[in-house]
Amino acid sequence: EKGGYDTFMEKEIHEQPHAVGDTLLGRTDEDGHLVLDELRISEQQLKDIDRITIVACGTAAYAGMVAKYAIEHWTRIPVEVALAHEFRYCEPIVSERTLVVSISQSGETMDTLMAVKHARDLGALTVSVCNTHGSTIPRESDAVLYTHAGPEIAVASTKAFLAQITACYVLGLYLAQLRGGSYADDAAAVLKELHQVPGKIEQLLGSMGRVREIARFMADTRSVLFLGRHVGYPVAMEGALKLKELAYIHAEGFAAGELKHGPIALIEPGQPVFIVVPGPDTPHGLHGKVVSNIQEIRARGARTLVIAQEGDTAVEPFADEIIRVPATSPMLAPLLTVVPLQVFALHLSTAKGLDVDQPRNLAKSVTVE
Ligand code: BG6
Repeated sequence: EKGGYDTFMEKEIHEQPHAVGDTLLGRTDEDGHLVLDELRISEQQLKDIDRITIVACGTAAYAGMVAKYAIEHWTRIPVEVALAHEFRYCEPIVSERTLVVSISQSGETMDTLMAVKHARDLGALTVSVCNTHGSTIPRESDAVLYTHAGPEIAVASTKAFLAQITACYVLGLYLAQLRGGSYADDAAAVLKELHQVPGKIEQLLGSMGRVREIARFMADTRSVLFLGRHVGYPVAMEGALKLKELAYIHAEGFAAGELKHGPIALIEPGQPVFIVVPGPDTPHGLHGKVVSNIQEIRARGARTLVIAQEGDTAVEPFADEIIRVPATSPMLAPLLTVVPLQVFALHLSTAKGLDVDQPRNLAKSVTVE
């Protein structure tokens, strides 16, 4: 049942090209336009949306953070991400023109369910991004956009995360398509590129040998930091979460721009730091800014583990290790950059002799508040 892999998690990591591909499947017509009749929300209602709030917990919330950057960029609709357990208690501002998107693999997470109910009571339109057919959250929502990752058995989420990001991209690109004009043209170009991502993940998974080696050498490590910027910021957070969950190692993710506002004080000789580097064509010169961050922490003795696009030579002088990912446009990069971090956590957990699929104290779906 593990398909030749030692653990469900390893199997699920390798199923990620399909999780992304299947989540895209059947959602475009022959002209390449997105068709989301399954949403059963009128086009007019969707066009009237003036604000989006994403509610989720854990890994799903990081998928939401990625979605915020992408959907705002593609649609210019303001997007907020709220942890589901905070949402209800912060007097959320929603109206009938607010789209509340919940993200949940299981569809049973109590905090997320309660947030959806609360949003609905306040009159918002609710869409569930969910991996489990017939589960509670989709039933309690106005509409559902299923992720097609297949059953996820390992407690720590991997393929569901990629599928959640993909479904959010689909939703954002669909809203952009509805807006028409240059929004629709740009969305069509991104969608074309998105269809190439499963092949790139496949290619990436074939080159993870060095990541496994790095993880094996780090079995005694007590703390690992993760830096990212733009869509790489939630990826850094997810990398840290995977390491906490699977290897019980203290791990923290930061926005790279925060470094000088505090976290740089943590850097001491030998401190391992993963850096998720934006592609060189990321707007606003963010690539160069992150390269400077790498330089700064390395000068203070950090051991820099750099995740960078193929062909990005600027990182080379400051990297102790370079993990290469295939090039893609900036918004889609998380579907690739997170993969080495998942693989790293998996092998570090294995190196420590831990139960990868069933980490201590965690449950696959948390159905209590
Ligand atoms: C946690 C799981 O408790 O719930 C995480 O261990 C998951 O892996 C989170 O991200 C949210 O779960 P769901 O099912 O709502 O996506």
